[in-house]
Amino acid sequence: MGEKLLIAGNWKMHKTPTETVEYFKEFLPLVNEVNNVEVLICPPFIDIPAAVKTTEGSNIQIGAQNCYFEKEGAFTGEISPVMLKAAGCKYVILGHSERRHIFGESNELINKKVISALEEGLKVILCVGETLEERESGLTFTVIESQLRLGLSGVENFLDRIEIAYEPVWAIGTGVAAKPEDAEEVHKFIYQILNELNSNQAGNIRVLYGGSVKPSNAEAILSQPHIKGVLVGGASLKPNDFAQIVKIGAKLAEVK
Ligand code: 13P
Repeated sequence: MGEKLLIAGNWKMHKTPTETVEYFKEFLPLVNEVNNVEVLICPPFIDIPAAVKTTEGSNIQIGAQNCYFEKEGAFTGEISPVMLKAAGCKYVILGHSERRHIFGESNELINKKVISALEEGLKVILCVGETLEERESGLTFTVIESQLRLGLSGVENFLDRIEIAYEPVWAIGTGVAAKPEDAEEVHKFIYQILNELNSNQAGNIRVLYGGSVKPSNAEAILSQPHIKGVLVGGASLKPNDFAQIVKIGAKLAEVK
């Protein structure tokens, strides 16, 4: 397992370009000594140029939170993977639960986006996760399996450019994270499915946990053997909190 832990921030619909510059002014000095974990921030599209410019020469990578699957055309309001690549993005988050549940994205649409983003040379963080209702009906593993199999259909040979984020919908933005051992159980299952899809590459994929990660719970979560990083929403908006999570990852990277 040569890969570094991936500590990623998803800003969702927060911050203007000016606030983005201010954020990095504060954040960069806090983490400039850290080089044993990978750090990624995914701001809103409009903030990407400011984020890329301000983080130039640092260890911070910039990604996007979504994209469309076409390269260009009459798709009002959409952004293509070609544009993200040209703007300096390294990653794109796809299939986030807010895209699935607020904007009605299907596994089929998400799969088209995954294929297209990979074709343009972006790395993909594919998000999967069950709702509370699904968990309570005993459907967690069924839902996760179909989100993985459908989302990754046709790209089984490119898993080396994919990371998975397990984000139980009931833990997102609620302040209540999954219990580390419950998340670990799902992560183990995800690796099992990935192994069935491509046993050569599955071991190099990082399966991140997301859902109410904060400085106070990051260590317990990241200590689980099959949790290879975190995708942080709310706590990534505060430079201090996110820097603390990065440093917890860096400390654990020594022993993991
Ligand atoms: P919170 O950390 O705010 O719960 O959000 C998690 C998330 O959705 C990251 O993509």
